[in-house]
Amino acid sequence: MSFRIEALSAAHDRQGFVCGSEPLDRYIRTQATQDVKRRISNVFVARDVDGAMAGFYTLAATSLPLTELPPEEIKRLPRYGLLPAALIGRLAINRRFQGQGLGGALIIDAALRAARSEPAIFALIVDAKDDKAVAFYEHYGFRRFISRPDSLFLPMATVLKAIPAASQP
Ligand SMILES: CC(C)(COP(=O)(O)OP(=O)(O)OC[C@H]1O[C@@H](n2cnc3c(N)ncnc32)[C@H](O)[C@@H]1OP(=O)(O)O)[C@@H](O)C(=O)NCCC(=O)NCCS
Repeated sequence: MSFRIEALSAAHDRQGFVCGSEPLDRYIRTQATQDVKRRISNVFVARDVDGAMAGFYTLAATSLPLTELPPEEIKRLPRYGLLPAALIGRLAINRRFQGQGLGGALIIDAALRAARSEPAIFALIVDAKDDKAVAFYEHYGFRRFISRPDSLFLPMATVLKAIPAASQP
C-alpha cells in the first residue's frame, strides 16, 4: 500500500484515528495542532490513497547526555556533555494499518527530515510508552539509555547506512 507523509494540517481528519492507545488518540485529536503552533513539536501524518490518516509522529529538537550512551559509543566521541538529537516523542499507527511496516517507514521519514535539518543531529531519540513499544524500537535498532530504559537512541550514522543513498539528502 502506498502512503503520503506530510505535515499535519487542517485537511487531516483525525476523529477516526484509533491506534489502541487512548492517550495517543487523544493527543492527535486535541493537542497536536497546539504543539505545532507553539513550535513545541512538528507533527507528520501518513495518509493512504483515500486520504485516511494511517499514522503520525512528532519530531522536535532535543539533546542526548553523553553519559546515557554505552561505553563503546562514548569512546568514539568527543567529551561534550550533551549531543544534538531529534526526538520522536510520539508515534502511532491507525489499527487497520498496523503490521504493514508503516511504523518503520515513519522512523525512516523522521531520520531523513532530521538529516535535512541545518543544525547537526547526532541521533534519533524515542520515548517508549511501554515494554511493547520498547521491543518495537529495538527491532529497528534503537538502544536503551543507560539510566532511562524507556528512552532509546539510534545514531543517525547507523540509520542512514540502512537507507539507499539515492533517497538521502
Ligand atoms: C507500535 C506501532 C507504532 C508499530 O507500528 P506498525 O506499523 O504496526 O509496525 P511495523 O509494521 O512497522 O512493524 C515492523 C516490524 O516491527 C515488529 N514489531 C512490531 N511491534 C513489535 C513489538 N511490540 N515487539 C517486537 N517487534 C515488533 C514487527 O514484527 C515487524 O517486524 P518484521 O518487519 O520483521 O515483520 C503500532 O502498533 C502502534 O501504533 N501501536 C499503538 C501505539 C504505540 O504503542 N506507539 C509506540 C510509540 S510510544
